[in-house]
Amino acid sequence: MAIKRLSQQQNTPPNTPGKKRKSRSSATLTARGKRNSPPETTVEEELLLATATFEETQSNEDNIRPHRLADYIGQKDLKEVLEICIAAAKKRKEPLDHLLLYGPPGLGKTTMSLILASEMEVNCKITAAPALERPRDITGLLINLKPGDILFIDEIHRLNRVTEELLYPAMEDCRLDITIGKGQTARTRSIPLPPFTLVGATTKVGSLTSPLRDRFGLIQRLRFYEVDELTLIVKRTGEVLKVEITEEGAIEIARRSRGTPRIANRLLRRVRDYIQVKGMDCISQESAAEALDLYNVDPMGLDWTDRLVLTTAIEQFKGGPVGLESVAAATGEDAKTIEEVYEPYLLQIGFINRTTRGRVVTEAAYEHLGYSS
Ligand SMILES: Nc1ncnc2c1ncn2[C@@H]1O[C@H](COP(=O)(O)OP(=O)(O)OP(=O)(O)O)[C@@H](O)[C@H]1O
Ligand SMILES: [Mg+2]
Repeated sequence: MAIKRLSQQQNTPPNTPGKKRKSRSSATLTARGKRNSPPETTVEEELLLATATFEETQSNEDNIRPHRLADYIGQKDLKEVLEICIAAAKKRKEPLDHLLLYGPPGLGKTTMSLILASEMEVNCKITAAPALERPRDITGLLINLKPGDILFIDEIHRLNRVTEELLYPAMEDCRLDITIGKGQTARTRSIPLPPFTLVGATTKVGSLTSPLRDRFGLIQRLRFYEVDELTLIVKRTGEVLKVEITEEGAIEIARRSRGTPRIANRLLRRVRDYIQVKGMDCISQESAAEALDLYNVDPMGLDWTDRLVLTTAIEQFKGGPVGLESVAAATGEDAKTIEEVYEPYLLQIGFINRTTRGRVVTEAAYEHLGYSS
């Protein structure tokens, strides 16, 4: 309850016309004031104030990302493939082949692209497809590349047609074909480009056009991480954030991280807030479990919405088969969000099955939620 109330408070100022500035700064002042007077605040309020230090933790983001392939935990198959590609490309003194990485969010696509750049000792320019709206956006980037550089395009399935077509000759023949002038005076000019590597990342490989997909020399999938891999990631991040954590504490956080490093790191930060507010100096299994229960993350990593989706399917649709749209309408969640954010993990842990007639909740989910099926 306290969490809801405070977040509403934080959201109120921007919606108050005319008073925006004043109310925002007074909200900040209140937050600061409260932080200095612990006896008047509840643990929940303290925690929320602690999470307000987001900017500070954001500056740690760069340190948290592994910088070498050897530090990249898990994804064994992907690492093996890339190790060979890097060694071969270095031997030939050529850039890496174009690489397409796909998989659910937060599994380490951007991180891998930065690692490739540091292993190849080249620069990595990072952009995302929605930022490449006009032709000059992509031409500007391509023209300024140095030999061997990596161009990372996130959400590459969202490229528009013109940009995509400019990329075809660039990827295949290191050439930029641009049209100058209009109508009868229009001429095409080819500009040579330095050899470069395009690393594309997407959560939806099926949405890529096949001409674009076929121009990637390597197409690699990232998979969800196992608990032991996530445990190592939590311990590594713990070291970077200088927070002490026991083996059991790290496992508890890993178990609740939905197979995703980004979530593992986020939960670790929340647990760190919790133990700091509670005056503990080490994350143990008990304190991790207590903190994550408080944040509504259950022992399987399910949050409030996951449980709502499952209980709705069970209680209103007898566990299915039920269509995605019906679940979305009944829960008030967006169908796309359910499909892209919640469902992949529920499918992965076997809590739902996808059938031609719709989604079916499995017995494991009934058991986990305390229903006798
Ligand atoms: N294999 C790994 N080992 C250690 N940390 C990792 C690993 N993979 C990812 N991380 C951590 O997880 C966080 C998220 O990774 P990253 O930003 O690369 O994900 P992403 O796949 O690009 O996500 P998105 O699809 O949302 O862009 C990073 O902060 C990074 O520190
Ligand atoms: Mg990314």
